[in-house]
Amino acid sequence: MKPNTTRAAVEQAYPGLVAAAEAAMARAHAPHSHFRVGAVLLFDDGRGERFVPGCNVESDVYGLTICAERNALFSAVAQGRGYPLALAVIADTDEPVAPCGACRQWLHECDVERRLRVFLLTRRSDAVRECGTDDLLPEAFALDAQARAARNPWR
Ligand code: THU
Repeated sequence: MKPNTTRAAVEQAYPGLVAAAEAAMARAHAPHSHFRVGAVLLFDDGRGERFVPGCNVESDVYGLTICAERNALFSAVAQGRGYPLALAVIADTDEPVAPCGACRQWLHECDVERRLRVFLLTRRSDAVRECGTDDLLPEAFALDAQARAARNPWR
């Protein structure tokens, strides 16, 4: 992903977010790919911790692996959280990490109000890609684009 901002700018706007993503990455369980990913959702809903982390967790049945982004999303939904402000994703990549197609679909579905800020980072440099969920998945599939409110997973 082409960078368009810096880690310093993200840290200034959202203190602690990048460090939380790195901590989540360190908890990845990736015995097969050895590719560790951390993802953190930021909340100001007053319903618990500001950060809800996720990491990738790999199964011996490869297809059962869960990505860091979906792990964070599903944990936050299970906690009954309000609408998230931002998501940071980090991995050990040359460029800011590029989420997989399945995660792009989920992020798009979970961002019914199109206001989640997504920050894609790399441990190798200060380069960051900031985008929205429409940028990640243009012309996304939606079962019923009209019934947005019913499809909002946030409380
Ligand atoms: N992975 C993520 O967790 N997030 C991404 O954005 C890309 C890929 C994980 C899945 C798998 O455990 C490993 O990275 C290699 O594909």
